[in-house]
This record gives sequence, structure tokens and C-alpha cells, in this order.
Amino acid sequence: MEAGAIGPTLVGRRIILGVTGSIASYKAANLLRLLVREGAVVEVAMTRAATKFVTPLTFEVLSGHAVATDLFEAHQEMKHLTFPERADAIVVAPATANFLAKAALGLGDDFLTTMLLTANCPLIFAPAMDGGMWTHPTVSEHVRTLRARGVVVVDPEEGPLASGRIGQGRLAEESRILEAIQALLIPRRDWLGQRVLVSAGPTQEPIDPVRFISNRSSGKMGYALAEAAQARGANVVLVTGPTALPAPRGVEVVSVETTEEMAKALTTRLAWSSVVVMAAAVADFRPKDPAAQKWKKQARKETLLDLEPTTDILTSLSAQRTGQLLVGFAAETNDLILHATQKLKAKGLDLIVANDVTTAGAGFGSDQNAVILIDRHGAVTELSLRPKRQLADDVLDVAQRLLRPVSRQRPAGSRLEGR
Ligand code: CTP
Repeated sequence: MEAGAIGPTLVGRRIILGVTGSIASYKAANLLRLLVREGAVVEVAMTRAATKFVTPLTFEVLSGHAVATDLFEAHQEMKHLTFPERADAIVVAPATANFLAKAALGLGDDFLTTMLLTANCPLIFAPAMDGGMWTHPTVSEHVRTLRARGVVVVDPEEGPLASGRIGQGRLAEESRILEAIQALLIPRRDWLGQRVLVSAGPTQEPIDPVRFISNRSSGKMGYALAEAAQARGANVVLVTGPTALPAPRGVEVVSVETTEEMAKALTTRLAWSSVVVMAAAVADFRPKDPAAQKWKKQARKETLLDLEPTTDILTSLSAQRTGQLLVGFAAETNDLILHATQKLKAKGLDLIVANDVTTAGAGFGSDQNAVILIDRHGAVTELSLRPKRQLADDVLDVAQRLLRPVSRQRPAGSRLEGR
């Protein structure tokens, strides 16, 4: 987004700008000017080290507000609590390696880091340091931890560093940091006009009236995708197997149990949709002859369960589609890219989201995931561990590039149109 091109974009937004001690500290003054020009109300918090590089007065004059520097100054009493309460975002630029470590570990030994521990708003960190420090395994680990918690980290840029070396460590251009802030604070409506059919959760295949075969899917990824598409302007129908999740706001939810019910719910809505995202963990087999009455353990010495394959919903949707973009998932335990590519081709998909379900702290039940996306042209995009809601937006970004313009898509022509 070009600053100023469509008028001020951050009017009424309250931003706290944290400045830590780096040779790049002076660049924060320019970022502050850009934010003010975009209409934001900015309050600045500086670390002691930052005040060695630039005086608080500079930021005070540019922001029009007193600068917070000290946790213990009488007139700043409790400001570490009141400051972030009214903030829409906290931006720390430049963020030193020391600051990243303290933020990752939850240390609060000055105003800025203590304030972070009380903050509930989105966080954006723009690191700056020497190249060797940025690639140090400790720093990399802290950055991974912060990203997995949902912090937006704006990578530093390559170029000449203050040390005279060349490397990746220069504070990102102020305009790039501004773009990251705008992306976070200005709601995107770039899926407006799309009709998105999402499946989520497990299916349950009855053995008898009280027992069923199912899997460990929590439904979180599918719900996050439905929520993200809705937030970006799409009309969304979520067909979900049994989960413990609340219905996403503004999304029509269709609850199903078995694979057959899910297949029917999706097939009848296919013509309405422009995009299908098949995130459900569908059972591949079901008991051939579910008992009408509960299996009694005394009566059954025989314990073999006779299974038959279920419908492959995605393959069947793919055969019936009329221009919809089809996104599938691949849950794998080994040879991720190979198996996912085979599924992409066999099921005629535009995009597959491949998921290594053995990764610790990711996948089934977790609030985070790491995936690899493979599109119909063979392009591979790796998305490292991050919260599923954030991942959902990133998957939509990749899917969007494969979409044809809405106006050129077949009109929906179904009874679900116009919801
Ligand atoms: N899928 C489907 N119908 C099924 C099984 C799977 O539509 N009966 C969909 C899933 O929702 C997912 C994709 O197909 O989007 C791949 O599912 P996955 O379980 O990874 O693979 P399978 O096709 O079931 O193959 P396998 O179990 O052998 O890995």
C-alpha cells in the first residue's frame, strides 16, 4: 500500500512505538513521521540504550506525546499497564537481539518489556543487528518462538551494516514496516465476491448406536480458514464434522457426522461455490454393516469389524466441478511432498496443503501448524510454524493467486446465491 495514495490509512488508530538501542534507532523517527502522516496517534516507549542514540525529545516533538522511558519514574507510575490498554498495535523498531530474547522469554526488566507482558494487542517487531547476530541460532530460535505466538516479525534487509560488513541485519525500510502495520490494522476485503465452501473436522462412522470410528481432527484449521475467508469479504459455508469449536461469526454452519452426509452437504453446494477448501479429515473406511442395536460383549465372541471404503469426496467434487478452485489437504507421516503431489494430481486439485502430522506442537488438536503448499503448476511454498488463524490467511494468499477474476467466473445460479 503506497503511503498517502488513498488518503491517510490509519486515522484513529493508536500505536505504541517501541525503540530499542541500535545504530538504527534514528530511523524510528522517520517511521514515526510516516505513522503520524497516516493519521495514527503514536506514543513512544524507549529503552535506556535507545536514549543513548536518540534523545526522547526527538520522539516527543514528532509524536506530540511524552515519551515513556523509565518504569520507576513517579509520573510514569503504572503507565506500563495503562499504555497498552488503549493501543491497536505495538511496533518495536528497531528491535535488538537482546530485546527479542527478552520478549521471547517473557522478561520484564524495563518499561518496554514489562509493558509487553501486559499487552493484548497485535505485536510487530522489526529487528536490526549485525548479520552474524541475525543468523545466530539463539536469535533464530527466539524469532521462531515469537512468530509461533503470532508476533509479526519484519525481516531485516541485506546490505552494508554499521560494522562495515555486508549481511542481513539492516532495519527493514520504514515503508515496509508501515506496510506490515497496515496489513495488520486495515481489514482486507480481497475475497469479496467469492463463495467459499469449507469442510472441517473429523467424520464419524457408526459401528453401532453408541460406537463409531473417527480420527483426531479438532477442526481448528478448517474453522480458521472459514473465519479468515469471511473476514476478507467472502460468503462462507462451513460443512463440519463433530467438533468442540464455536461457529465462526458470519459463517453458515452445516453440521454432519458421516462421510456420506458430508459428501451430500458439499455436493449440493458445489454449484453455488467458487472455491472449495477440503480441510476435513474424512474417514476412508466405514463399518460395512453398522448394528441397529448396541453390540453386547457377552453375545459377541467374534471381534472382527468388516469395513468398506467411503466415497472420496474430493475426487467426486473434482469430477463434477464447473470452474471452482479446489484446495485439498494432505495429512502425511512421511515423504510429504511426494505423497502430497500425488494426491494433488490424482484428485485434480489446484492447491494442496501438506501437513506432516508427526511434527511436535503442530497439526491435530494444536493451535499452530506448519505446512507446505504445492500448486497445480508445481510451485512449492513453505509456511513455517505459526498460529492456525495466521496460517489460514497465508493459505488464502497463495490460493488467491490461483483464482480467476470473480467477474470471469461462472455465475453461481444456485439457490444459495445472494446470502
Ligand atoms: N478426502 C476426501 N474424501 C475421503 C478422504 C479424503 O475428500 N474419503 C480429502 C481430505 O479432506 C483431504 C484430501 O482428500 O483434503 C486428502 O486426504 P488424506 O486423508 O490426506 O488422504 P487420502 O486421500 O485419504 O489418502 P491416504 O489416507 O491414503 O493418505
